[in-house]
Amino acid sequence: MAGKAKSHLFAANWKMHKTVNEALDYLHELRPLLHPKHSAKVYIAAPFTALKPLAEETKKEQGAFPIAIGAQNMSDHLEGAFTGEISAAMLMEIGVKFVILGHSERRRFFHEKDDLIHRKVSLAFNAGLQPLLCIGETAEERKAGKTEEILEKQLSECLKEIKKELGQKLIIAYEPVWAIGNGHAATPQDAEKSHHFIRDWLGKNWDALTAEKVSILYGGSVNGTNAKDFLKEKNIDGLLIGGASLTPHSFSEIINLN
Ligand code: PGA
Repeated sequence: MAGKAKSHLFAANWKMHKTVNEALDYLHELRPLLHPKHSAKVYIAAPFTALKPLAEETKKEQGAFPIAIGAQNMSDHLEGAFTGEISAAMLMEIGVKFVILGHSERRRFFHEKDDLIHRKVSLAFNAGLQPLLCIGETAEERKAGKTEEILEKQLSECLKEIKKELGQKLIIAYEPVWAIGNGHAATPQDAEKSHHFIRDWLGKNWDALTAEKVSILYGGSVNGTNAKDFLKEKNIDGLLIGGASLTPHSFSEIINLN
């Protein structure tokens, strides 16, 4: 069955929250809250400053339960005169495992376009980082009946010429822009429709087996109450969680559903 052979993946997107001390406190509080037998994959995307301390801390704790630490962005260049930017190699060196790319807040506030996101996806793969690619339509696009057209455009441009062998390392988050950070999540059925479309597109672009291996997460106003209904859907492999990931209590509540 599509998606469900994998264990669920829960990714926290802290956005611009948490100093280093707050991040470490969070990690220490999270651990005892998790069900000892949970089988979920737990990912945390933290601000740049907290990445190294978090990666070091989770490395010590691998025996207890593995948590992957990730960045929320990176440069589309290898190195050079790009003031303020952080490269894939810099992230790799400090133990970062994954990187969120193309989040709608990057697209909206920093004018990131699909061709730039595509360069970042390629660089992340080349460096050995797992890209967590965000795609999704705006409210206007949805109203105009363009959801699938937009998803197709974002997928084909952001994944252009990416080899199918890399596909199994890819994570995609379907995040309808109109559902982010406002308490109005998509219905699980609507989300499943888009996830099915994404899986289908991956199958056509690569092959069905590779498409099955891609984790496709839903994101947008997920909380402890609605999370379980998303996880019942065939093509929803996990969740990308913003607001509800900010306290260890609310994040663990979701992880423990697994
Ligand atoms: P939210 O954010 O859970 O607060 O809606 C999700 C995201 O932006 O990744």
